[in-house]
This record gives sequence, C-alpha cells and structure tokens, in this order.
Amino acid sequence: MFKENNNDLMEKIVSLCKRRGFVFPGSEIYGGLAGTYDYGPYGSELAHNIKELWWKHFVKERDDIFGLTSATLMPEAVWKASGHLENFTDPLGDEKFNTMFKLKAGALKDETVTVYLRPELAQGMFINFKNVLDTMHPKLPFGLAQIGRAYRNEIAPRDFLFREREFDLMEFEYFVREKDWEKYFEMWRESMWDWIERVGIDKNIVHELEVTPKNRAHYSKRTIDFEFNYPFGRKELYGLAHRTDFDLQAHKLDYYDEETKESFVPHVIEPTFGHGRTMLAVLLSSYKEDGERVYLALKPEIAPVKIAVFPLLRNKSDLVNKAREIYKNLKKEFGAVEFDDRGNIGKRYYSQDEIGTPYCVTIDFDTLGENPELKDTVTVRDRDTGNQERIKIADLLEFFKTKAQS
Ligand code: GAP
Repeated sequence: MFKENNNDLMEKIVSLCKRRGFVFPGSEIYGGLAGTYDYGPYGSELAHNIKELWWKHFVKERDDIFGLTSATLMPEAVWKASGHLENFTDPLGDEKFNTMFKLKAGALKDETVTVYLRPELAQGMFINFKNVLDTMHPKLPFGLAQIGRAYRNEIAPRDFLFREREFDLMEFEYFVREKDWEKYFEMWRESMWDWIERVGIDKNIVHELEVTPKNRAHYSKRTIDFEFNYPFGRKELYGLAHRTDFDLQAHKLDYYDEETKESFVPHVIEPTFGHGRTMLAVLLSSYKEDGERVYLALKPEIAPVKIAVFPLLRNKSDLVNKAREIYKNLKKEFGAVEFDDRGNIGKRYYSQDEIGTPYCVTIDFDTLGENPELKDTVTVRDRDTGNQERIKIADLLEFFKTKAQS
C-alpha cells in the first residue's frame, strides 16, 4: 500500500525502473549527467502509451483542439516578447539565474543567431496562432495542443523524474473570449481530474492548491496546481493557469470575429502536464506489494505489455507450437504481446507482474486435450487478483478486446 513520506517506496521504484528497463540514468556509462534520463524498452512503451492516451483525451476525442508540433529551438526575440528572458529565473545567491539553455545556431560569425531551447511548449503555439487561424479557420473557443521536449537548466535537478533538465511536456492553450475565462477554467479543471483518473494516478493523493499571486508565473492571473503526495513530499504534478491575453498581446496577435466584425485579443486557459511527473505518479500509484509478489497495477491501456503467452513447459513441442500460434494471433491484434518460455511458470508470472502486464495466457496439457472437456481452452491469469479462468481459444480475441477498454 502507498504510504506518505515513504522513501523506501521511491528507492523501490527507481530500482524497479532500472532493473526492468523502464528508466536508466542518462549517459550512465560516462558517469551520468544530472537531470537526464534514458527510457529503456518498457519505459519507452509506457511513455508512448501515456502520450497517446493524453492525445486521445484532449485532442482526438474533441473537436475544438488542434494538434501542433513546433521547433524546440527558438530565437531570442520570442523569449524577449514572452517575458522569459527577464522572468524565467531562479534565485541563486543575490542574483537571478535564467534557467533557459542558451545556444548559438550557425557557424559563420556574422550569421550566428542566439537561440534558446524552449522551456515550455506554449510559445510555439502562440507564435503559430495566426498560421492556424489562416489554415483551419477555427471559431472561439478553440485550443492548440502539443506534446514535446522542454529544457530547463535546473540549478538542482533531483527526485528522479520529478525535476529534470530535459523532459517532455503535454500542454495546451485554449483561446476564449475574456468574459468566458472563468467558465472554461472550471471546464478544464474538471477535465484534468478526469485525466488523472483515466491515466491511473491515485486521485486520493492529489490536491488542488490555489497559487498565491506572489508565486504565480509572470503571465498568470490565476493558477491552480494539482499536487501529488510523492514520497519526498506534496509537490506539483500539473498546473492550470489563466494566462490572460498576455502572450498574444506580447506577440502582437489578434482574432477577427466574422459575426461581430471586430478584432480582439483572446484570453488563454492553459492546462499543463509534465510527462516525467506523470510517469512517476503513475508508477507510484500503481506499485503494489502482495506477500512475495510485486506488481504494477497499470491501466491496461498504458501497460507496456498487454498480454504474455506461455507454454507450460518449454521442452514439449506440442505445447510450444500451440503457444506460438496463439501468441502470433494475439500479437497481430494487440501488438504489445510477449512470448516467454524461460524458467517456471511462477517466475514468469512474477516477471510480468513487475512490469504491469495485465494478463498471462498459459497453454497446458488440457489445451491439447488431455482433459477432453478443456480441449482448446487456455488459462488466463489476472495480474491484480492472481485468479485464473479458462477461456476458449476461439473467444480470446473478444475477451481481450473487452478488457483492453477497461
Ligand atoms: N507552460 C506552462 C509551464 O511551463 P510550469 O509549471 O513551469 O508551467 C509545466 O511547467 C509542468 O512541467 C509542471 O506542472 C510540471 O509537471 C512539469 N515540470 C516543470 N519543471 C520540470 C522539471 N524540471 N522536470 C520535470 N517536470 C517539470
């Protein structure tokens, strides 16, 4: 069970992530680079599935949000206008330290340009506001969403995926009329809770915090943080901000209303979701110990492996052939399916539990007809209960299709 302020739990998660190929420290064989992490095979699947689910939740299932993918390098002019050059700072002694990574693009001296690696995705969406108006002709309210890399030269990166120097963000800007901002702020607040539940973060340990004016970002008139009880304390998971018309004003952009024949500058509601923090909160929420057994109770939709298929014994070719056949059919349908014939069944279950595989299918002698009544059936074991049921091979696809939605 999850216990607050349980540092053991953090160590267990970090160790499981390393041992099972979820997350490795960045550049490890050269001594590592603080604040960077490399995702291994299962981590990449989990990361990808979370992004895909987010895109489904906030873009594909709606008709008022458009996707965007903007460059991660942007010139100084963008950051001057957005206020980041002046305000994107952390205190360092008596000075202010700007946490944007500054680079030079180009080789020839008189042709080099000062650029910054973006610390947030939002500016990419603001500077393309006009492009989207001209190509998609959206009516207010509408949003622009993006998933991608962000970079921050954090003075003290720490707590695993919580505070990194390079991370993915999932973020959208929702453009509204000023008079409507409160209504849409509430709408997105609710939708963020739906997301928290949908991705499998334990909502009982998420709390809203009204950010005080002193602690709000320079562009915000109202911000709510969604905080999560990490083992190292209650800290920010997500943010929801009313960015006012600050950014569009800064970039001198506006919106022409066809009906009223007026131009004005829309206001912006911005829900923002750290992807690394989502990974961490999902892992912390799903980590379970049950006697000797450790399992990740991941939602099937985001689990790196959906189904594992085992022949009871690896040295019986009839079992192995049947298992291979079933594996191939399931893989064709669900993709993320594994075949395992190593060690004994108990070890294979343990291994799949640890990476959060929701179902294991075992092909045994009854499948082959040793008990005629059970011929052409397999056992399907449920990760969370450990219970097994016998399912007809002919019904397997339908069975998992139904389960995959849950
Ligand atoms: N565009 C709004 C914005 O960037 P932010 O609160 O500065 O707001 C957005 O950052 C989200 O990014 C945070 O809610 C958090 O989830 C995540 N985040 C911020 N800094 C991070 C870091 N150093 N490492 C990992 N995630 C981070």
